[in-house]
Amino acid sequence: MKILVTGANGQLGTEIRMIAKYDEVNDFSYVDVDNFDMTNAFDVAKWFANQGPFDVVINCAAYTAVDKAETEIKTAKLVNSVAVSILGDICRKMNARMIHISTDYVFDGQNYRPYQEDDLVNPASAYGQSKLEGELAMIQGEVPGIILRTSWLYSPYGANFVKTMLRFGKERESLNVVFDQIGSPTYAHDLAEAILQIIHHPSFQTTNWKGEIFHYSNEGVCSWYDFALEIMEKSHLSCQINPIRSEEYPLPAARPHYSVLDKKKIKSTFGIHIPHWKVSLAVCLEELKQIS
Ligand SMILES: NC(=O)c1ccc[n+]([C@@H]2O[C@H](COP(=O)([O-])OP(=O)(O)OC[C@H]3O[C@@H](n4cnc5c(N)ncnc54)[C@H](OP(=O)(O)O)[C@@H]3O)[C@@H](O)[C@H]2O)c1
Repeated sequence: MKILVTGANGQLGTEIRMIAKYDEVNDFSYVDVDNFDMTNAFDVAKWFANQGPFDVVINCAAYTAVDKAETEIKTAKLVNSVAVSILGDICRKMNARMIHISTDYVFDGQNYRPYQEDDLVNPASAYGQSKLEGELAMIQGEVPGIILRTSWLYSPYGANFVKTMLRFGKERESLNVVFDQIGSPTYAHDLAEAILQIIHHPSFQTTNWKGEIFHYSNEGVCSWYDFALEIMEKSHLSCQINPIRSEEYPLPAARPHYSVLDKKKIKSTFGIHIPHWKVSLAVCLEELKQIS
C-alpha cells in the first residue's frame, strides 16, 4: 500500500514514522506544513498530481494550540476543518481511505459515563468547534475512511503535559494542577500502533465507511492532578503537586470536566489491545530518558 502521513513532524506523525521504519512492505510518504500546507487547495492538488495516487492518507496535521484558538479562530478552522475538506475531496477522487484524527474536546464534558461515538457533541472551545467541523467535513463530504477521536496526547516529541510536568518538576518545589477535569491520557506511540493495525485489518480494507467514528485513548481514567502525581512519582521528583479547581487556574479556552472516551467499538471492530495509561506513561518516561 502507498500510505501518506500528513503533519508528520507532530507528536503522532513522529510516532508513526518511528514505527513505520520497520515496515518493509508498505510505502510511506511523510509531509508537513513546510512542504505541504494543507490549507492551500491548489498546492495540495498539485502535490498529489505529482506524487499520487495513495491507498491510505493518515491526517495527523492539525492546529492544536487550544488556548490560542480562542483568538485565532480563523486559522484553527482553516487547518482543522477547511483543510480536512480539501484533503478529503482528493481522497474521494483518488479512492484513498483516510484516517482523520479528532478529539475528546468535541464533547462538553457534562456526561457521567464514558462517551460513546454517537453521543451528543457540543464543544466548549473554539478548538473543539474547529475539530468538530473537521469531522463534519469528512462525514458530509462522504470521504472514505474513519475518524479516530483521542484525548490527552503525549509523547517524547513536541510540547505536551508530560514534558511540561518533568520540566516544572525539576525547577519547582510545588505545583498546582487541576483535579476536576477527568479523562484518559494517550501515549501517541500506542495510538500510532493502533492506526497501523487498523490499516491492515480486513474491516478497514473492505468496509465502505464514510467518516465512521471510533474512540481511542489509553485504558484507565484520571484527573490531570493524578496524571501529574504519577509523572512525579515515576520520575522520582520531589515536587509537591497540589490539587486545584479549574476556576483557580483560568485559561482562555474552557475544557470539558469529564471527557473519558468509551473504546468498546474500536476494540471489538479491530481487535485492538489497549495498555493502561500508567503502563504506557512508564514506557514513555523510559523513552525520554534514553533520548535525553
Ligand atoms: N495533543 C493533544 O493533546 C490532542 C488531544 C486530542 C486530539 N488530538 C488530535 O490528534 C492529532 C495529532 O495531534 P498532535 O499532538 O500530534 O499534533 P501536533 O504535534 O501539534 O502536530 C500537528 C502537525 O500538523 C502541522 N500543521 C499545522 N498546520 C498545518 C497545515 N496548514 N498544513 C499541514 N500541516 C500543518 C503542525 O506543524 P506546526 O507544528 O509547524 O504547526 C504539526 O507538525 C490532531 O488532529 C489533534 O487535534 C491531539
